[in-house]
Amino acid sequence: MYIATNQLIDNSVDTAVEKFRQIILEQLQRVEKLMSDTPWTDFKALDTIEIGVCPGDGIGIEISKQAQRILEILLKDATDQGSVHFRLIEGLTIENRAKHHKAIPDDVLHELKACNVILKGPTTTPQKGDQWPNIESANVAMRRELDLFANVRPVHIPQQGIDWSFFRENTEGAYVLGSRGINIGNDVSVDFKVITEPGAERIIRLAFEFAKAKNKTRVTVVTKSNIIKTTDGRFSAKAREISEEYPGITLDEWYIDIMTAKLLDPARRSDFQVLVMPNLYGDILTDEAAQIQGGVGTAGSANIGKNWAMFEAIHGSAPRMVDEGRAQYADPSSMIKASALLLHHIGQVESATRLEKALDICAQFERKVVLTGRPNGATAEAYADYVLEWVTNPELEATWEQYVKGK
Ligand code: IPM
Ligand code: MG
Repeated sequence: MYIATNQLIDNSVDTAVEKFRQIILEQLQRVEKLMSDTPWTDFKALDTIEIGVCPGDGIGIEISKQAQRILEILLKDATDQGSVHFRLIEGLTIENRAKHHKAIPDDVLHELKACNVILKGPTTTPQKGDQWPNIESANVAMRRELDLFANVRPVHIPQQGIDWSFFRENTEGAYVLGSRGINIGNDVSVDFKVITEPGAERIIRLAFEFAKAKNKTRVTVVTKSNIIKTTDGRFSAKAREISEEYPGITLDEWYIDIMTAKLLDPARRSDFQVLVMPNLYGDILTDEAAQIQGGVGTAGSANIGKNWAMFEAIHGSAPRMVDEGRAQYADPSSMIKASALLLHHIGQVESATRLEKALDICAQFERKVVLTGRPNGATAEAYADYVLEWVTNPELEATWEQYVKGK
């Protein structure tokens, strides 16, 4: 009996070691690819910008529809002139992904790659025990396949002086091997976290470049490098190294636990400007920041890579709201914010700014139409109409200025 058990353990150790070896080899290959210098696509130099729209699942269908409607209105001239083209991509639903047993079916990936930028509604991520096969998250797969390494999430509360820009590393950390953990025997499970030199470098540099372009004076790196010494240690050392190249910008480092507390501290929180961090910390911290802004339904997210960019809500597809028949009352602000980020990215800065100001007035200042997520509040459609009213109002700029000054 004793010998038989030992034999079993030896076998699973051997299997685990072999899997680990494979993982290491793959990561070395990935890092080599990262080091080859792919140039950035210059969106302003393209004759036509192809905008893919994936409605997603659950409340995604309703809120994407509203965001797309607003985008189409703002880009009407560009579409008429042929400098922008919309393409509807319908195959990213959980039903279709489950049918193909793939996070992103091949034909859908092909269509995504034919676009320059993508507006993506929330997609359902299967979880052990639910009705779906346990396929990988479509978000995570898309970030990897299109190498969307920077997840940029702005959180902005003008009346409290809060203007945070989160730069979440989006392709490695705890996510890169999140579906590849190893069980050894019955009692031990191991997951992996990976931080690479070029992976850390590119996100940290982007955060510093953003800070420089926006005249920000501070970049905050968030890690747990006192405990997770190897991977987070590399990330924080890289941040220190890169900060040397930006003399006008101060770098400070906070550990993730105290950082979550400090975002709630009114005496300190408005001092944070640009924050950069590994994947999982960014996932957690940006939900907290969005909640401070008014809920996860109010926050949009830009997933930026060198050749593609994808814009989405920071939240999921809210199956509970759908089951309870409340999908039409979902807050479309997250997807509308994502659309504003998309407009910035393709160089439509004036429309982007108008949309952001309209959202500030609707969500934070005037609040004439209020969403509750239930029938006692507005529908997503009515709310999008309200935002559109402000976008097209000639008094938008002046009204926004007045509100901000009178904070
Ligand atoms: C996000 C989401 C995703 C993530 C999920 C849906 C896979 O929470 O975009 O923050 O964990 O990154
Ligand atoms: Mg998240």
